[in-house]
Amino acid sequence: MRKSRRKFLKNSMALGLTSLIDPFSLEASSGLIQQDKKLKILILGGTSFLGPHQISYALNRGHEVTTFTRGKTVPKIHADLFSKVEQLIGDRENNLEALKNRKWDVVIDNSGRKTKWTEDTAKLLVDNVGYYMYTSSISVYYPFTGEDFSEKRSLVTEIPDDIDEGERGTYAYGVMKATSETATIKSFGADRSIIVRPTLIVGPGDRTDRFPYWLARLEKGGDIIIPGSRTEVVQYIDVRDLAEWMIRLCETKAAGIYNGSGPGFDMTTNAFVHGIHANYTSAVNYIQIDDNKFLEENGLIGIQPWVIQLPQYAGMSKSDNSKAIAAGLTFRSLSETVQATKKWWYSEAVSQERRDNILTNERSLMRREKDILAKWKQRT
Ligand SMILES: NC(=O)c1ccc[n+]([C@@H]2O[C@H](COP(=O)([O-])OP(=O)(O)OC[C@H]3O[C@@H](n4cnc5c(N)ncnc54)[C@H](OP(=O)(O)O)[C@@H]3O)[C@@H](O)[C@H]2O)c1
Repeated sequence: MRKSRRKFLKNSMALGLTSLIDPFSLEASSGLIQQDKKLKILILGGTSFLGPHQISYALNRGHEVTTFTRGKTVPKIHADLFSKVEQLIGDRENNLEALKNRKWDVVIDNSGRKTKWTEDTAKLLVDNVGYYMYTSSISVYYPFTGEDFSEKRSLVTEIPDDIDEGERGTYAYGVMKATSETATIKSFGADRSIIVRPTLIVGPGDRTDRFPYWLARLEKGGDIIIPGSRTEVVQYIDVRDLAEWMIRLCETKAAGIYNGSGPGFDMTTNAFVHGIHANYTSAVNYIQIDDNKFLEENGLIGIQPWVIQLPQYAGMSKSDNSKAIAAGLTFRSLSETVQATKKWWYSEAVSQERRDNILTNERSLMRREKDILAKWKQRT
């Protein structure tokens, strides 16, 4: 047996195939992990955007997955995999019965929308679950002023009295995420808590039109407004890179706090736009508008994934991902993200109404663009 294994390895090494086909390998080609490292994973949530990608990767690695939702959201991504998932029904607001007296190796809290929800599940699960992974957000750093956007930066913990009403929601979200992180660590302790702070998540299944907008816009071509300066930096994270890395963090039980942002280099808005357009054949004419006052007056501030350099957003695309990279975060190319998003965008998972909305909704930049351009030309 030993001899034939050695012979097999020798032959396959000569073909450069060992990691792909060695049947004796602990990590086979499917990405399966060792039997004794198999995890029982509970996902609070799991059916919307990030969750299905986590499930796909976790099942592929040989883990067992349970989800906990109200049963309202019908998964549209990896829908075929849900027959292999235990699906518990309840409500984080007032019904956690299904989670009682059950054991898991790790819980991933994706659906935390109130601090109390995380407090309640962390308290309930602390003796029956090994690790608590909380899906937070870089919004815990709001307002994005100053220079340090590493995990050591202090967090927003209250909504100031004297703020502009328009900022209240952004503050409230950041505070909720920050206080939920604290609730996690308070119950599970720092050595059993894994906190991930993603930047804008993009890719197949996105519930927002932030990234699909740019795909649709560059596909259509013509005169295209590029708001802000071309050298500003863009950050985003492909949902699959994030989901897969989060599962690997569970496997390695890498307790700690991590920013989850990409790509792995400083991508300028210029590189972002050209990188997307490389996937289309439309004729384009880019019109750079870098007058912040004009942009603000015309509702062009938050044309994500980059945000105009107003002081409170200046550091939004500067989150430091070095700790995450050291802990195994990897990045697909922008083209891979575009191709997968494009495939999903034109699939049955997306309604024609949603696709049309980007083109025809009167609040959509695509509808307003001609008028804004006319104003801009007049002004310049
Ligand atoms: N999108 C971004 O750019 C971004 C950026 C940074 C951070 N984040 C964070 O990333 C996380 C990802 O969220 P996701 O929606 O993609 O996660 P998900 O795990 O795919 O889905 C979340 C699920 O939570 C369930 N849910 C909602 N309310 C519930 C309740 N009261 N009780 C039980 N379950 C409930 C929903 O199912 P039912 O409706 O069936 O209950 C929903 O399908 C969020 O925490 C978000 O704040 C997102």
